[in-house]
Amino acid sequence: MTEPGDARESEATATAPTPRGLPAEVARRRTFAVISHPDAGKSTLTEALALHARMISEAGAIHGKAGRKSTVSDWMEMEKARGISVSSTALQFNYRAAGSDVDSVINLVDTPGHSDFSEDTYRVLTAVDAAVMLIDAAKGLEPQTLKLFQVCRHRGIPVITVINKWDRPGQAPLELLDEISERIGLTPTPLFLPVGIAGDFRGLLRRGPEGVAEEYIHFTRTAGGATIAPEESLTPEQAEAREGEAWVTAAEESELLSATGQDHDQELFLAGQTSPVIYASAMLNFGVRQLLETLVALAPAPGARVDVAGRPRETGDPFSAVVFKVQAGMDTAHRDRLAFMRIVSGEFERGMVVTHAQTGRPFATKYALTVFGRERSTVDTAYPGDVVGLVNATALAPGHTLFVDRKVEFPPIPSFAPEHFATLRAQSAGKYKQFRKAIDQLDSEGVVQVLRNDARGDASPVLAAVGPMQFEVVTARMQAEFNVETQLDFLPYTLARRTDAESAPELDRQRGVEVFTRTDGAVLALFSDKWRLQYIEKEHPDLTLEPLVATAD
Ligand code: G4P
Repeated sequence: MTEPGDARESEATATAPTPRGLPAEVARRRTFAVISHPDAGKSTLTEALALHARMISEAGAIHGKAGRKSTVSDWMEMEKARGISVSSTALQFNYRAAGSDVDSVINLVDTPGHSDFSEDTYRVLTAVDAAVMLIDAAKGLEPQTLKLFQVCRHRGIPVITVINKWDRPGQAPLELLDEISERIGLTPTPLFLPVGIAGDFRGLLRRGPEGVAEEYIHFTRTAGGATIAPEESLTPEQAEAREGEAWVTAAEESELLSATGQDHDQELFLAGQTSPVIYASAMLNFGVRQLLETLVALAPAPGARVDVAGRPRETGDPFSAVVFKVQAGMDTAHRDRLAFMRIVSGEFERGMVVTHAQTGRPFATKYALTVFGRERSTVDTAYPGDVVGLVNATALAPGHTLFVDRKVEFPPIPSFAPEHFATLRAQSAGKYKQFRKAIDQLDSEGVVQVLRNDARGDASPVLAAVGPMQFEVVTARMQAEFNVETQLDFLPYTLARRTDAESAPELDRQRGVEVFTRTDGAVLALFSDKWRLQYIEKEHPDLTLEPLVATAD
């Protein structure tokens, strides 16, 4: 296996792929997402990756910071006003790893920047084979990183850790690693250690087997970090002569880590027990090439996915794909609806007629796109691991399966535990019909969860969200797409538990509790707070009260 970053020459190419057969196409793909707390530097890193892949010639083009050219999706006014990206899309690029004669195809599946859209982020994580956990060196682990990491663990997704912003003063390198192992129970195994303390980032020490310092990669800053930082490779002896104490410290740290068993082990990494670590500065483009090399060398290629019957659909089987995200209204001029699917098996060719597993109906794929920011391009061929957007795919919802030949249906994407609840009603009774239609539509897209019970009736259903900004999306789309003014009233509930028909009547009699049925048939009990829940659990141990998919706890 190629050691990440061990050769000097690497480059990104934009050549069209030559026909090489499905197994080779699968083997050269890497599909991943970046998980991070807002402001850790996800947009900056995405841009740095695009820069290294020569998709852009200067950083500052994608994430649309003030005064820079913006090419990011400005989905809805809300997105513009808040400077966040609501839409999840995928960036695909080729990258020729050091010493390789094959271009790898990297699919970076974007996740919403705002934590209120974490439900979308969780869904995105069902479509990737690996995650990059991006941590702000000064801030360490933050709540959103922790939650997202739990989802990765739950799904068995291997995690590569990038400790970002090393160009700024912050903690000691090993302190951060201790935090990772103590707070999330993942053993960090650095592949590269920083040379120079936080705030004085000179380069990276590449760790070989048993923590031996194998190479020093010295970086040179470029103006504003706008272009790739030139790298110089030095031997350990040269490094010590050049950097003195800073090098010696890094080499000692590397040995210390080995003494505690913190060396990379591919099996443990794939099993989700260890995480390779890279120190970086996305802003200065330090460590970005090393991340790409690591993804190519260590992250898994797309593999089989198990269907509802527990049978694996191998990548070499006939075409199948799973929808993980539906996005409407991205293009204000067209108001279209895009369903994003991740290809699981077989080759996708635009125009092929596939079957929609949930309805058994045929589905034509004439309009297949890749989308990143405002950039859309037609996809003619795609392979397992790739993400393809289907235009105006009204029947498709997150979790749905598409296939050809042998039928397959993948398990549904779990609904994540909502923590915010509100009722919604049309302001004018005359709009009730449109209101119902809109609710059904937004529900099927997974924008929010919709809960109903007999007492409240259908005129003002209860919306349940993981983050309150999901409500804003609902009310904004109600108005813009369906021309319905709505009234949103928050409910005093903060947590939900799954229950059943037998337990429902007793729960309904309790103060501070209300029982609902979700559209997928699940019976949910909402509680005002955790003390009420604990009290009821204690008083009525026979009642069914199960946590929903654990994300935060
Ligand atoms: P996000 O997508 O994860 O929310 O983070 P984003 O990339 O927008 O970065 C958040 C802030 O952190 C930005 O500063 C960005 O420039 C800065 N940043 C990202 N990576 C690095 C890094 O490696 N080193 C340093 N020093 N800063 C970094 P800002 O003040 O919000 O914007 P700007 O004025 O810098 O453009």
